[in-house]
Amino acid sequence: MHWIAPSVLSADFGCLKQEIECINQSEADLLHVDVMDGVFVPNISFGFPLMKPLKAYSTKPLDVHLMIVHPEKYVERFCDAGAWSVGFHLEAVDDPMPIVRLIRQKHVRTCLTINPDISEERLLPYLDQVDMVLLMSVYAGFGGQSFIPETLNKIRRVRQWIDERHLPTLLEVDGGIHLKNAKEVFDAGADVLVAGSAVFGAKDRQEVIHQMKNC
Ligand code: DX5
Ligand code: ZN
Repeated sequence: MHWIAPSVLSADFGCLKQEIECINQSEADLLHVDVMDGVFVPNISFGFPLMKPLKAYSTKPLDVHLMIVHPEKYVERFCDAGAWSVGFHLEAVDDPMPIVRLIRQKHVRTCLTINPDISEERLLPYLDQVDMVLLMSVYAGFGGQSFIPETLNKIRRVRQWIDERHLPTLLEVDGGIHLKNAKEVFDAGADVLVAGSAVFGAKDRQEVIHQMKNC
């Protein structure tokens, strides 16, 4: 599976509606929504108020990536705001399962995420409990960083675990994905590639998405 999830973090917020309409017309599969709290990560992006226009304008499902402490306090509101999936960081919580259940009760997909310094082994017990796992290929917090090449081996391992267990769990990779490395990341076993600056930094966003998806 080759899915592309443009990250709205890199969009021009001065013309958000046009930016989203451009993605609507593209072959993108999801719209990735990066929520940062300035505590879990050293940056603040946006929160609930942006969900409204995103939900109103986007015909692509909203893939919400929470980079926040205490996700248990907020996941239900993101579900109610129309998220297709809600993801949070494993290293931000003591026990992810109660939060997974909160999201599941809302009939929304769950995604468990880890930063580059967290071992993929920690995802193993939850692989059959979530709909998607997200491997960060940069440290969460900012768009426009360079892909960390060591992530490729992590992707291969998690892909193997998913396949060996015949799980439907999707494998998403986020950070530093561009046309030049997209094929390598898909070949390593990713199902979904998040791309912020590669898409919104390009003149022809739809062409970049087309090429990434079909690489
Ligand atoms: C980083 C975010 C990413 C980011 C990706 O904290 O989680 O989703 O927007 O941006 P690029 O593709 O520019 O690395
Ligand atoms: Zn993200």
